[in-house]
Amino acid sequence: MKRAIWLSDIHLDHLPPPESALFLESIKKLSGTAIWISGDIGQADTIVEFLAQMESTLELPIYFVLGNHDYYLSSINNVRSRVQKAFDNSRRLCWLSDSDVKEISPDVGLLGHDSWADGRLGEYEASDLLLNDYILIRDFNPFLQRSETVGPSSPLGPNDLMDLICGKQTKQNRLLIMQALADEAVEYIERRLPAALQKYKHVYFLTHVPPFKEACWHQGRISDDNSLPHFSAKVVGETLVRIMEKHPDRQLTVLCGHTHSGGVAQVLSNLVVYTAQAVYGNPDIQKIFSFED
Ligand SMILES: [Fe+2]
Ligand SMILES: [Fe+2]
Repeated sequence: MKRAIWLSDIHLDHLPPPESALFLESIKKLSGTAIWISGDIGQADTIVEFLAQMESTLELPIYFVLGNHDYYLSSINNVRSRVQKAFDNSRRLCWLSDSDVKEISPDVGLLGHDSWADGRLGEYEASDLLLNDYILIRDFNPFLQRSETVGPSSPLGPNDLMDLICGKQTKQNRLLIMQALADEAVEYIERRLPAALQKYKHVYFLTHVPPFKEACWHQGRISDDNSLPHFSAKVVGETLVRIMEKHPDRQLTVLCGHTHSGGVAQVLSNLVVYTAQAVYGNPDIQKIFSFED
């Protein structure tokens, strides 16, 4: 029997090191055969270190995607290339965005992509939500693109910084980047999901951002129009539906996180989405999936 332990939004950087070590030890006792992680493991300065720690402590195959927090304090390309380089030759760690379908059992395959919120659900233009992403990830912050650090020696003051980040042009540029990142997930899904469904009766898809409004739980309810643009990837959901409607004899289970509020959404008879419940500083397992060998 195979036992996949699903983790999401564990944010190990919110724990003192001894506690994150204890958390990993507690996972080890669950007799899993694989770990699946749907993003938000640490930040850019800790992600490689945490993944290496998980690899050496758990001694299991670890399949993961990255979440928005994993890019904090750096740029998306920088984190992706560091993760890719660090674990290129790893026997156990697999970044799914960079990988073809993985066989979990003869009937079950695993795919995954980081994805990104694409601003296409809810009211992006009117939304006043300013995620930390837009300040802490260099791709979104025009100030960080000009300078390595935000600090007393910077030529711009805090008000200039907020003007830059909240400005209409910046908001529009940000949307284009968000949509391009979600479109990368679509390209991945279109390239790999139909082939995976040919081979496996049941495919699991790990991703960070909920791809449907009905899966976009936040604080115990479905996100409103102010939050949805930043919390959901509409184009990813549309792509999954289009493909699964053509494969009624196959099952797709989507595992996502990001919004820290748990729920299950049955989108089609053959497409179900689990959204992870998470609390900063108190990581926990989401679910254990068992499969016949
Ligand atoms: Fe998170
Ligand atoms: Fe997140």
